[in-house]
Amino acid sequence: MSFSFQHSDFPDDFLFGTATSAYQIEGHGFGGAGRTHWDDFAATPGNVVRAEHGQRACDHYHRYPQDLDLVRDAGFDAYRFSLSWARVMPDGRTPNPEGLDFYDRLTDAMLERGLKPCATLYHWELPSPLADLGGWRNRDIADWFADYTHTIMSRLGDRMYSVAPINEPWCVAWLSHFLGHHAPGLRDIRAAARAMHHVLLSHGRAIQVMRDLGLTNLGSVFNLEWATPADDSPAAQAAAARYDAIYNHWFLSGVFKGHYPAQALDGLEPHLPANWQDDFTTIQSPLDWCGLNYYTRKCIAPDPSPWPALREVDGPLPKTQMGWEIYPEGLYNFLTSTAKTYTGDLPLLITENGMASAESPISGGVHDPERIAFLDAHLAQVLRAMRDGVPVQGYFVWSLLDNYEWALGYEKRFGLVHVDFETLERQPKSSYLALTELLNR
Ligand code: FCB
Repeated sequence: MSFSFQHSDFPDDFLFGTATSAYQIEGHGFGGAGRTHWDDFAATPGNVVRAEHGQRACDHYHRYPQDLDLVRDAGFDAYRFSLSWARVMPDGRTPNPEGLDFYDRLTDAMLERGLKPCATLYHWELPSPLADLGGWRNRDIADWFADYTHTIMSRLGDRMYSVAPINEPWCVAWLSHFLGHHAPGLRDIRAAARAMHHVLLSHGRAIQVMRDLGLTNLGSVFNLEWATPADDSPAAQAAAARYDAIYNHWFLSGVFKGHYPAQALDGLEPHLPANWQDDFTTIQSPLDWCGLNYYTRKCIAPDPSPWPALREVDGPLPKTQMGWEIYPEGLYNFLTSTAKTYTGDLPLLITENGMASAESPISGGVHDPERIAFLDAHLAQVLRAMRDGVPVQGYFVWSLLDNYEWALGYEKRFGLVHVDFETLERQPKSSYLALTELLNR
């Protein structure tokens, strides 16, 4: 099975890349990395499947040359990776020379292979000592994050192709402080409201720090989910609009318009920190690009529970191993609506897109035709948006390797490359081979 289009259907300067994150692949038992709130979350019974954690993960810390060879050999232009705060600063504030040296080597290894390093500063492994101080609930996190940004980017900034401060603010804030599914596992509306605001304040502070260091090509990475009303009723439509406001518009509107959407403020305003309106100058620090992570849509119904008074219901479309509906049109919808409402001529990138599937090696190969079909269908929507004038500049597959899928442990496999978590052997799947054929032609 192969792709239904050619590499040459995309402009010459269109970036193809693949994405990973530090805690999900590196192994945090090495190199002086500090304890993180994900280690604490996983150590609490019931939070993570089989209580799995990232102490060894894919052992990328030791095997990165081989992994970066895989990125290069597939023909990717760029590699999106993240820097672990707890490796750079094990207590959140004191630099760890071993950690800085590791990211130096990793960066140089990308450059040696002709790969563009696209860094994310925070992909979820908050150092535990900062979590003890309230983590994202504490306004001081903006200062801690600014110091961390300064430390790591003074060292690496000159070699980065692009940098984004925070991966998926919705997950950092809502998923982790209101729904309780990710570390620190809170289910608390006041904590959630604080985190929703502080995550954007921290984003803006990091952008300012990097501008002062003279860095260019700075952006943001938001995750978006298309909200579909479960039926035609006004109540379902209102519930879907509320979901859309909390999930998608809060962050885009904060960064690009300097205010929060009314349907989300309805419930969150009483819990926001004092003088929150004064922070938009920082939050709106100008960006060079906007990244969208897209996986699925959700069908939303009203619910008798307190605000936001909604629930997700099962949808009719085919689903991935995650139980997520496959809805490629949602990517087109988001590319066009984001450009229209928020970003205009600013370049957009799809910074994550991909699917989990449960295949394992058989007769010498790992066969994942459904992943090829998924990527093909989503890239077709990217081409469609580009034909309609949306300035899309790149597309990153999540993920290079099967890895630690957070609360779902090692069971959900998103990789283009299969990883045997006993032997740590890497084996390219047929999707990797199909991409290699596409990109090297
Ligand atoms: C995104 C995360 C990434 C991975 C994928 C499946 O929300 O950024 O780390 O878990 O989902």
